[in-house]
Amino acid sequence: MEEILVSSNNADKLSEIKEVFKDENLKILSLKDVNINIDVIEDQDTLEGNALKKAKEIFLISKIPTISDDTGLFVEALNGEPGVYSSRYAGENVSYNDNCVKLLENMNGIPEQQRVAYFKCVICFYVEENKYYMFDGICSGKIINEKRGTKGFGYDPTFIPDGFDKTFAEMDIDRKNEISHRGKALEKLRRFIKVYFSQNQI
Ligand code: IMP
Repeated sequence: MEEILVSSNNADKLSEIKEVFKDENLKILSLKDVNINIDVIEDQDTLEGNALKKAKEIFLISKIPTISDDTGLFVEALNGEPGVYSSRYAGENVSYNDNCVKLLENMNGIPEQQRVAYFKCVICFYVEENKYYMFDGICSGKIINEKRGTKGFGYDPTFIPDGFDKTFAEMDIDRKNEISHRGKALEKLRRFIKVYFSQNQI
């Protein structure tokens, strides 16, 4: 069975990734599974740069085909903030709740029709030295003015995807994966990997 390592210590992301690949003949490994105890520093100014950095650093240590994801929430009324800095919007080492609270504070008073936002996810699949592939997914929606729901993670309780009346945090993981930025990028990756592993002996 082919193996893929996920370059993330985020258990929530890992669950979403495992869910997408659950019917594939593929073993999804976490950093813990391979005893790598590293948090790659996300210091690039694009999602693409961070995704590449996270996958490459871990591939060079593990030599296992590695995927990483970097995601940002882009809010139009905040000129694209928090964007690439989504994980540390409220500061270094903050909680998901701290970031949501800061977002809702900054959106205070902004009328509903101007609360448009989108998540963008970029995934890097690093397969061998200097050989990698990138995939992306976008999910558009709006920021509500309170937190709703307890599922998901990050900014999920504040975000309602277009065409729905529930936040991501009120949806089951498989529902979120069907429509989310990460779900879309992972679906592109899933299709690519199927062909890739059948054509390449890694
Ligand atoms: P990262 O840099 O890709 O780990 O993600 C940046 C931040 O975006 C995370 O700390 C979360 O707060 C947020 N985030 C990432 N993916 C999602 C998602 O699917 N829903 C809500 N928030 C997310």
